[in-house]
This record gives sequence, C-alpha cells and structure tokens, in this order.
Amino acid sequence: MTYLTVHTDGAQPQTLLETEDAAEIAATLKEIDVVLRHWEVVEDLPEGAGQEEILAAYREQVDRVIAEEGYTFVDVARLHPDGSADWPERAAVARQKFLNEHTHDDDEVRYFVAGSGIFYLHVNGKVHAVLCEAGDLLSVPKNTTHWFDMGTRPDFTAIRFFHDDDGWIGDFTGDPIAQRIPDFDTITAGRAART
Ligand SMILES: [Fe+2]
Repeated sequence: MTYLTVHTDGAQPQTLLETEDAAEIAATLKEIDVVLRHWEVVEDLPEGAGQEEILAAYREQVDRVIAEEGYTFVDVARLHPDGSADWPERAAVARQKFLNEHTHDDDEVRYFVAGSGIFYLHVNGKVHAVLCEAGDLLSVPKNTTHWFDMGTRPDFTAIRFFHDDDGWIGDFTGDPIAQRIPDFDTITAGRAART
C-alpha cells in the first residue's frame, strides 16, 4: 500500500503529513501535478521472470499508458539481494545514483511490479515522499525537482516508460536537501512502528 509523508524543506524539516489513505494521497499529489495510479498486481509471475515475461504480463496496461502518454520505450529495472559477494557494493552504487536532488527533461514514470522505493518530490517548499509498493504507477512530470531512495537493501522490480531511448540523464541541482529529509530506511522503519 502506498505511504505518503510530507515535509517542510527548511534547515530543520517538520513532518506535515503521514498517510496511507489512498484518496488523501491522490488528492495531495494532484496538487503538485503528480499522478499516482494503481494496477492489479499479477500474482502468478514466476520468481525469476525475465523482462519479456514481466512486460507480457502487464501488456494491456502498458500499452494503454503508451498510447495515452506517447511513450516509445519501455523496460524493466530490477534490483534484488542475490547473496553474491559484491551485492552490498552494487546496491550502494545503485542507490547513490539518483539519491540527490535532480530533474530530467522527460517524465519519470515507474510501475512497481514488486518491492518498493521512495520518490521524493520537492515542490512549492515541501517534500512529498511517496513510498511506492507493488501495484503503484507514479508519474513524475519532467523538470520536477526530485530524488529516489531504494534504501540500503534495494529490493524492487519496476517497469519504466520513456519518450526516447537515449539514456536516462539526471540534471543535479546541487541542493543537499536529500540529506535533511528522512531516508527510505527511516521512513519505512517509522511506518512499521506506527502499525
Ligand atoms: Fe529521477
């Protein structure tokens, strides 16, 4: 289930909202032009399903989004602990890549097939931390200042939609705000303690 926290963006950020209420989350995100949709999760995908199998399982929904939004390229990003010796290092490198505030000149659209990650959207003096879980499709409009935290133990599968396939470039703002806002591990631990 999606979980949203909203924080002020000052030197000592305050938490303004914590909610799992789908309607409240949708309404709050709508205020900043961010669309969150939900698709039913395909439960019978085999454990080691490949990219083609995953895309085939969600073909109807994927094709609908492509047709509506004009995307031309779709792929699947996967990071799961695999027990290999170099996993901790690979996980840390992957996490670091988009952990600081940046923008893109394309929308950032992700459908979480499995696992979770937090998109932090920094708009109008507030940071909206959207914990996306399996079934969530989040569209971050181009040029929105944001960052993404997959946590210290990355574990997710996500379908990604692009308008072109020439790579995914982040334009980093240099604002260290990501270091002041609770990270993935902190938010997920706080949520677990509440429930
Ligand atoms: Fe991004």
